[in-house]
Formats: sequence, structure tokens, C-alpha cells
Amino acid sequence: MTRRRKIYEGKAKVLFEGPEPGTLVQYFKDDATAFNNEKKGVITGKGVLNNRISEYLMTRLSEAGIPNHFVRRLNMREQLVREVEIVPVEVVVRNIAAGSICKRFNIEEGTPLPRSIVEYYYKSDELGDPLISEEHITAFGWAAPPEIDDMLSLSLRINDFLSGLFLGIGLKLVDFKLEFGRLYDENDQMRIVVADEISPDGCRLWDVETNEKMDKDRFRRDLGGVEEAYQEVARRLGILPESDQQDIKGTTTLQ
Ligand code: TMP
Ligand code: ASP
Repeated sequence: MTRRRKIYEGKAKVLFEGPEPGTLVQYFKDDATAFNNEKKGVITGKGVLNNRISEYLMTRLSEAGIPNHFVRRLNMREQLVREVEIVPVEVVVRNIAAGSICKRFNIEEGTPLPRSIVEYYYKSDELGDPLISEEHITAFGWAAPPEIDDMLSLSLRINDFLSGLFLGIGLKLVDFKLEFGRLYDENDQMRIVVADEISPDGCRLWDVETNEKMDKDRFRRDLGGVEEAYQEVARRLGILPESDQQDIKGTTTLQ
């Protein structure tokens, strides 16, 4: 038996060679890290939930005309995606102050920001994802100015779209991180598309009524109920059919 070729292993996912050229299989692990790998753990069932949540959100983005790498979900932990050249820039959009912006500017967590703020971070585990400006991106050749324009306008459209979607299920989209890739078509034309995943690992989601955290901050801050929070997000999105709940071993099913 031949084993499929592993292309890349990250902290939360593994990428394997896909069944056709130009495709990859994205496998979602239960591993969780925080604070640039300083804190490590396992969130049982997280991979299964993030696979489904990301499938759902990427599909909704496609319907809204926002291009992304998702093709289809293959099984509980895997999805087929288009192979892209990842831009080494993480784009963070913030609506409410939380996390690193609170420390950086001494703002109280939960303060609504005067307007949505977009930040860029250099994707480097070794350096701990430092905050960067457009100048760094262009000077070091991580992306060209038109690519930055595309990433910025896509990020703002995604923020509008996802803020509305989450509000509809009683969740505030506090902030989130996106990754982008270059997708080349048959004629070698390139376009920027959303890649990676969109899940509670890379979003802050607070309950509208109680401000309860429903995302990876529960793990980062040892708040407990991590699996339950991810499961509740999936449940509110309407993507947790009864039959699947039994498959997510070790997680308690919320009603
Ligand atoms: P931060 O407040 O730690 O800068 O994070 C902002 C948002 O971006 C938060 O929802 C978590 C997400 N994020 C990631 O998904 N990966 C990262 O490496 C970082 C720094 C943030
Ligand atoms: N994912 C990043 C890490 O593991 C940062 C975070 O999510 O807190 O270090």
C-alpha cells in the first residue's frame, strides 16, 4: 500500500497531495496551540467541528461571490481544496477590542472600535507572527500592491458578510484572521483567494446576550468548556445533525 504524500504539517492541520493535480487534501487535527506554540493541548473533536464549520463558511462565502480554495468536504476530518501559493501574511480584522490590541494600546477588552481595523502579521512561527505594515509586505516582496488591495477589499467584504451571518445566530464577530493564496488558472492567470480555514480557532465569537466566549480564547485562557463552545457554534450554524454528534467522541452534546 502506498501512503499519500504529506505536503505540509502545521499546528492544527496537515496538507496531503490531492487526487488530481492542483488539489490538496486538508486534514484537521485536534491539536491546539496558543501564544505562538507556548501552550499546547488537544481539544477532542475540534478537527471534526472545524472541518464542518469551515466547509459551511467557505461555501457561504462562495455563494456571496467571495473566491476561496474550498472544493468539497471528503469525510469527518478532511476536505478537498485547490492548491494555492500561500501569501505569508495573516490578515486580522477587528470590530471589538480583544487580545493583542488591548495590550498594545491599553484598551479594555470589549470596547467597540471606532471602525473595523485591518492589521497584517508576517506568517512566521519562528518570529511569532510579528505585526507588519504594507511597507514591509511590498519591500520584502511578500505580496505586490494589487494583491494587498485584493486582500484588503476581500477582508472587509468577508467581515460584513460574516458579522451579519453570526449576528443572525446570536454571536458577535469580535475579530478574525484570514489567510490568502494565489490561485493560477489554466492560462496562468492568477487571482487572490481565501485559503486555510475559517473556524473558532481563528475567530473571536461572543454570545450577544451574555458576552460568553465561544472560541479558542476558552483554551488560551483555561476557561473550560472548549469542545462545548465549538460544538455550540456548529449547532447554531445548523450543521450538527443528530447522527454526527455521536461521532464526535469525548465531546458532550449540548441540547
Ligand atoms: P490577537 O488578538 O491575538 O492578535 O488575534 C486576533 C485574531 O486573530 C483572533 O481571533 C485570533 C486570530 N489569530 C490566529 O488565528 N492566529 C494567529 O496566529 C494570531 C496571532 C491570531
Ligand atoms: N495560533 C497561534 C499559535 O498557536 C496563535 C493563537 O491562536 O493564539 O501560536
